[in-house]
Amino acid sequence: MSLRRVALFGLVLLPFVLAATAIAGVLFLRQGGFAPYRIPHGAGRIVAADAATVARGAYLAKLGDCAACHTTRGGVPFAGGRGFSTDYGTIYSSNLTADMHYGLGDWSADEFAHAMRNGVSRNGVLYPVFPYAHFAQVDDSDLDALYAYLKTVSASAQAPSPNRLDFPASWRPALIGWRMLYYHAAEAAHAPSSSSKPLERGRYLVDGLGHCAMCHSARGARGSLPPQGYLVGGRIPGVGWYAPPLDSRQLQRYSIDQLVAYLSTGTSLQGSAYGPMAEVVYNSLSALSAEDATAIATYLKNVPPHTQPTQRLLPPEQAPQPGVVNLGADVYKRACADCHGDDGRGKDAAYPPLRDAASITAPDPINAVRVVLYGGMAPTTAGNPRPYSMPPFVQQLSAAEIAAVINYVRHDWAGLPSELTAADIAGMHGIVLD
Ligand code: HEC
Ligand code: HEC
Ligand code: HEC
Repeated sequence: MSLRRVALFGLVLLPFVLAATAIAGVLFLRQGGFAPYRIPHGAGRIVAADAATVARGAYLAKLGDCAACHTTRGGVPFAGGRGFSTDYGTIYSSNLTADMHYGLGDWSADEFAHAMRNGVSRNGVLYPVFPYAHFAQVDDSDLDALYAYLKTVSASAQAPSPNRLDFPASWRPALIGWRMLYYHAAEAAHAPSSSSKPLERGRYLVDGLGHCAMCHSARGARGSLPPQGYLVGGRIPGVGWYAPPLDSRQLQRYSIDQLVAYLSTGTSLQGSAYGPMAEVVYNSLSALSAEDATAIATYLKNVPPHTQPTQRLLPPEQAPQPGVVNLGADVYKRACADCHGDDGRGKDAAYPPLRDAASITAPDPINAVRVVLYGGMAPTTAGNPRPYSMPPFVQQLSAAEIAAVINYVRHDWAGLPSELTAADIAGMHGIVLD
């Protein structure tokens, strides 16, 4: 190629190169520019570590559910190693104990706050399984209290398990590309105190430490959390449960007090928590102060209803049609009515109603299928020390009977076109991903 042709070729390409660079620049700025990758070094500020601050930090760690994700089943608290399965492989949580080598022992308060806000630490860019998108909204004084508390957690020299991920997800710098496409840095909020308006306090807790949107939002491409999916509900990636929307329409069947009961005891007249929500109540929300539980309930009851494609409309009650032979109705009478009542209205707070239960009115039937297959148990909490449980039916009922009873309840009581087949149920056997 002659020099002239190379120059011409370059001139033709130049605008494209410039445009691509400009787009990359805008995307890079949108995820926070270079600032997230500048880790604060050195000893930094001194943070108060008096008993009151440490106690506040311990409470905030409960709200953030840190121990649940950073402890293996039966393992040393906060020593990390719990695995999270994603589409790209398994990511293990880090050691947060005061160990100098494997934990946060020699981290400064600034480095800790930086990791919580930006998802970047001395170990590199962190995977978004760590809910830093939400923790970015936690204010400085709450982060300092968390830091002061974590400093008191006894050291455990447990090395974090190496992640098992496919390339390029295994290469941390690739996360910069992911952040450019899917991540918007959030502004840190100023923590409204528990004496300020419940609505503001509730929003702060739900969006920040509570990271409720991590499960309760609709996901976009590659596990991202686009703003339009906020609390819209959806299947939780890697877990195989559906988290319902959280808004004023979904929660209309709860009064504020009933919602407070659900969140802090795991049970209420409207239903009880099971699956991953039972864990959230057990490990985290059962520790809520009465004011904070009321604040969260008040905020959730004020989230404007979402306009999902599959809107949840409660149909008028239908009288059973005489003479119609219905396998589902038959199974219901035999296997379910004793507890859930002939009319599906449940019995007190012991056996929840099915008529407008979240799992029955959901666009996604997975929770109902899982509960019927493997049973369910609300968490044991101070407010509900001996929870009632639902037995598993995987041995008692055939896949066809399970499909029929769920179709019957969803169709007749929630007006949903439920057409689960025996093959669908068989395909969901063994999905015990969590
Ligand atoms: C949903 C699970 C989950 C919750 C809840 C969670 N974390 Fe984590 N966290 C993780 C995972 C997984 C990692 C490892 C990410 C990685 O290696 O990229 C992590 C990493 C971290 C790191 C970075 C550690 C390092 O060595 O780089 C810090 C700091 C941290 N978490 C603090 C907290 C605190 C404090 C809380 C509670 C307020 C919390 N986490 C709650 C899952 C969670
Ligand atoms: C680990 C995932 C996860 C997290 C985090 C989570 N939830 Fe849930 N939540 C679920 C699932 C799954 C369900 C459906 C099962 C059930 O109803 O018990 C649920 C159900 C609920 C319900 C019942 C809805 C209804 O219509 O009955 C409420 C209320 C709720 N969550 C509130 C919250 C709040 C508030 C937070 C944050 C503090 C939160 N959740 C965090 C997974 C999660
Ligand atoms: C021995 C009593 C008992 C029987 C029999 C029983 N259930 Fe349940 N069921 C419960 C209890 C208790 C819960 C709440 C479990 C929890 O919170 O973890 C529950 C929860 C449920 C849920 C979740 C409700 C929600 O809030 O979303 C569904 C769906 C369900 N049952 C369906 C059925 C079906 C269908 C049958 C019959 C095949 C059946 N149950 C039989 C006791 C029972």
